[in-house]
Amino acid sequence: MTAELRNVSKVFTDPRRGKGLIALKDVSLKVEEGEFLCLVGASGCGKSTTLNLLAGFEGPSRGEVFFKGEGVKGPSPDRGVVFQESSLYPWMSVLENVMFSLQGKERKEERAMEQLNLVGLEDFAHSRPSDLSGGMKQRVAIARTLAMGPDLLLMDEPFGSLDEQTRRKLDNEVLKLWQRERKTVVFVTHNIDEALLLGTRIVLMSPSPGRIEKEWRIDEPWPRDLSDPGLVRMKEEIINMLQACPCANGAPSALIELKGV
Ligand SMILES: Nc1ncnc2c1ncn2[C@@H]1O[C@H](COP(=O)(O)OP(=O)(O)OP(=O)(O)O)[C@@H](O)[C@H]1O
Ligand SMILES: [Mg+2]
Repeated sequence: MTAELRNVSKVFTDPRRGKGLIALKDVSLKVEEGEFLCLVGASGCGKSTTLNLLAGFEGPSRGEVFFKGEGVKGPSPDRGVVFQESSLYPWMSVLENVMFSLQGKERKEERAMEQLNLVGLEDFAHSRPSDLSGGMKQRVAIARTLAMGPDLLLMDEPFGSLDEQTRRKLDNEVLKLWQRERKTVVFVTHNIDEALLLGTRIVLMSPSPGRIEKEWRIDEPWPRDLSDPGLVRMKEEIINMLQACPCANGAPSALIELKGV
């Protein structure tokens, strides 16, 4: 197994209100090596919090986070993150942006070009980020993260701000990358179709407080057809459960008095 949350709770405190918000409550999740795990769930159910804990950007309030059998103490290049809106350095070329994450390594330019090749952007190596479309910027962000050589790729709605057509195209690229590089991927999305097309497993979270509701393994080979009866059934089940979820963000059951937290 690659990464694990073991009985993790995460409380965000709001000292002004004297309240804490339980973003995650007793969440246990094992990410197996080589799997493509999709995290879905209503807004505010703790998907990004889960990813940030795996990345080491946040620490748990209770419980433990492991990566390759060791406790996660902070971010590390072997756990790469791609966010919804990539922030590339606007004054650097595409190539320089990717090279930036290779600091201290040899053959920086060659290695950065290899990564740009993987995402099909070698011809734009000397362009500025401002000359690229949203989808191309996300591909640079992926190349930049891959350049660090992570074993675990954490993606938080990486294509959430793109149109449906571009999203599908990039989904296919990520799938190919995953099949070729065999990285372990944790992929957060609001889009159930995207999860059904990509994942080896879908984990549904629910809010107030954030927890894992249910999970599904998907054995269908790729490329997948969303009209496949098995996938249609799975989608129906996921959507029914999503609709049954209580409203997210700040629902009273997720708020606790800070005393004793
Ligand atoms: N740094 C923070 N400080 C305070 N509260 C936070 C912080 N980060 C997250 N939260 C709260 O924790 C809960 C879970 O947030 P999180 O961002 O993990 O949800 P999410 O599932 O990623 O939602 P979305 O789909 O909207 O991105 C939310 O109620 C949110 O307001
Ligand atoms: Mg989020």
